[in-house]
Amino acid sequence: MPPGAVTRLRDDLVARGLVDGLPAAFAAGVTRFGRPPHAELDALTGAATDLAARLATGAVGEDDLPLLTRVLYTARQADLLARHGVPSPAYDVLGSFRENLERPLGPRLPERPTAGGRRWPLLGRTVGFPIGVPSCVLNGSAAWVRHNVANGWNVLTYKTVRGRAHPPNEAPNWIVAPGLTTSLPPGAGADVVSDPWDWVPPGSPAVSSVNSFGVPSPEPEEWMADLSRAVAAVGHEQLLLVSVMGEDPEGTGEAAALAADFARTARLAEEAGATVVELNLSCPNTLDRSAAGVKPPLCLDADATVAVVEAVRRQLDDRTGLVAKLSWLDRERLAALVPRLAPLVDGIAGINTVQSRVRRSDGTPTFPGRELAGLSGIAVRESALDFTRRLVALREAGGVPFDVLAMGGVTDPASFEALFAAGADAVQSAAGAFADPLLARRCVDELGETLPRSVEVE
Ligand SMILES: Cc1cc2nc3c(=O)[nH]c(=O)nc-3n(C[C@H](O)[C@H](O)[C@H](O)COP(=O)(O)O)c2cc1C
Repeated sequence: MPPGAVTRLRDDLVARGLVDGLPAAFAAGVTRFGRPPHAELDALTGAATDLAARLATGAVGEDDLPLLTRVLYTARQADLLARHGVPSPAYDVLGSFRENLERPLGPRLPERPTAGGRRWPLLGRTVGFPIGVPSCVLNGSAAWVRHNVANGWNVLTYKTVRGRAHPPNEAPNWIVAPGLTTSLPPGAGADVVSDPWDWVPPGSPAVSSVNSFGVPSPEPEEWMADLSRAVAAVGHEQLLLVSVMGEDPEGTGEAAALAADFARTARLAEEAGATVVELNLSCPNTLDRSAAGVKPPLCLDADATVAVVEAVRRQLDDRTGLVAKLSWLDRERLAALVPRLAPLVDGIAGINTVQSRVRRSDGTPTFPGRELAGLSGIAVRESALDFTRRLVALREAGGVPFDVLAMGGVTDPASFEALFAAGADAVQSAAGAFADPLLARRCVDELGETLPRSVEVE
């Protein structure tokens, strides 16, 4: 943490006249999507009021940084934290999807972390240190891509876009799950308790989160223009993939209609400058009229999945890379699907979030109208390791090469290294990047000189 950060933040808050309003702004944030039980609310607002009083008199010290971080973030003053180099969660959970698309949160490093020019092979190119942010709202716009590149994230997957505009699910959309601080067994979801005011300190490696966005998308005209800017924003050390998803717009229920829409959307991404397209075959958050409110991921249906990937491969230019993103699949399902996908793709990515039942501590659904949401972070770490090991073994056994983009539960250098050692060609982090926007730098600092499998580049 930057030395003297609390004093500098305090002086800045005083100069801006923000101290008096902090307790009320904090309380508004805490209660934005529901009211904590009385005792909890009293304790939270009491702590914020006490902090504000001490900020006013100058009686604060470095020990106050964790509370000050929570109060400023919840009072929607995360930009102030960033200005003084103090990390906050990288997404404003109190803001709308749109607001967040346009406004990356968190500090931006003055110098991009690099592994001293070392390069690793990926999808027919080479990249710098092979860590990145997968398809998620933290890569939802050119502004985010620029921000992530500056902070050392090299393998960036532009957030899933669709062939027509699609609104986000009702907020809240993304919340931490402080009760889940260790990994669940492979493939296991959980009955998650997550309240909208929950908090995990930034940088904590024991972070889990739940999200339910519903794969929102701007209309193609808008995202294609933004995507072109994002493509222009990445340098020779980075690779930008673009995630797309198709729909069955007329509701015919036919795989061919879905496949055609996937292919059309992939072509739009290619037209906008994408050199690698990733197919989101694994979303656990697509709305449905079923009792649970959401559909199971498409990749559970192997025939439909293969039909989609074949249709896309036929439509794309031969030079455009193609990656299939899967969710955690059991032994039989993965072993049946991978040999069918391998000849069609350049890479397989996974895992997506694990569909789980999510409730508030009072038993009501955390996300209004949706009982199921996507769980990720440390809770799915074993799922990701198990999936990656089996995927790499299937690659070796099958003899048809493809690259593996692994993700799930990467929240510190050791969890990055575990997936890389399992055979992944690149490793990405969503929940970890949310909790610690400077995670890429930590990984580069610790592993940049020793990570194996780098290549010489002319
Ligand atoms: C807030 C959020 C939004 C996400 N949106 C998408 C998406 O649009 N498309 C997609 O393929 N995966 C999406 N994912 C899944 C991530 O790309 C990743 O597969 C998953 O979160 C597991 O990684 P983690 O444990 O590092 O979070 C999203 C994940 C999060 C947390």
